[in-house]
Amino acid sequence: MNRFDGQTAIVSGAARGIGRAIAERLASEGATVAVADIDANGIEGVASDIGGSSFAVATDVAEPDSVAVLHNEVINRTGRLDVLVNAAAIVPFVPWDDLTFKEWRRVMRVNLDGIYLMCRAASDIMRPKQYGRIVNIASNSIFAGTPNMAHYVAAKGGVLTFTRSLATEIGGDKITVNAVCPGLTDTEGVQESPHKDMFNFVDMLQAIKGTGTPADIVPAVCFLASGEAHWITGQALAVDAGMIRH
Ligand SMILES: NC(=O)c1ccc[n+]([C@@H]2O[C@H](COP(=O)([O-])OP(=O)(O)OC[C@H]3O[C@@H](n4cnc5c(N)ncnc54)[C@H](O)[C@@H]3O)[C@@H](O)[C@H]2O)c1
Repeated sequence: MNRFDGQTAIVSGAARGIGRAIAERLASEGATVAVADIDANGIEGVASDIGGSSFAVATDVAEPDSVAVLHNEVINRTGRLDVLVNAAAIVPFVPWDDLTFKEWRRVMRVNLDGIYLMCRAASDIMRPKQYGRIVNIASNSIFAGTPNMAHYVAAKGGVLTFTRSLATEIGGDKITVNAVCPGLTDTEGVQESPHKDMFNFVDMLQAIKGTGTPADIVPAVCFLASGEAHWITGQALAVDAGMIRH
């Protein structure tokens, strides 16, 4: 089944982890994927591994000019934009006592401002076409109040409520906007941080036992990014082996 034949998708944060897995699946189901990330070397490798018509665009999602370059490149190359998946984020581990305003702003800038900028640019392209799918990657930490990441949880909570509002704003143009909220997932980012020591604790809270991987998150994202999900918008779907029920 090629659900994305003839479509163009942007996936941010696609140099590694969950974003990379989403980019690979969208491409394998027919999409031309703009592989976007601040990690310029990483995206070149991903785009070349994916092959076909997909391409890399070095992008800082928190910089308006960089986001504009990305969207211009997508239109110049493919003439359309059907799917936007916002997976780029900073995943910090900072206890409350160490949480400075500078660190707060660093995370807000990427994890919340970046979502606004990407949705602003993408929806401006999608609206005249009267079609679009936007999937924002939030986190189940917004329901759990996970420690050592108050700024991240606040930003991701903003992603959820922004998702609900934007769904209302542009639903009339047949654009859906949903959030996927992964649980702890084994990615390069997690392995580089103290979060890597949390898998046993999280396993205890999960209805289904085991360690989440990017491949476990991909199907929910691709369903919401597909045409058949046209009757679902403004929703948040926890994909976390049943840890959170909200
Ligand atoms: N892994 C988890 O346990 C987990 C759990 C819940 C939610 N999430 C969310 O899933 C998404 C992916 O997580 P991951 O674990 O794969 O992360 P990761 O750290 O492995 O990858 C994140 C990617 O985002 C990119 N990025 C960071 N800042 C950027 C910027 N300013 N512009 C463009 N790209 C930027 C990084 O270069 C990196 O390639 C994130 O939104 C994260 O918050 C992850």
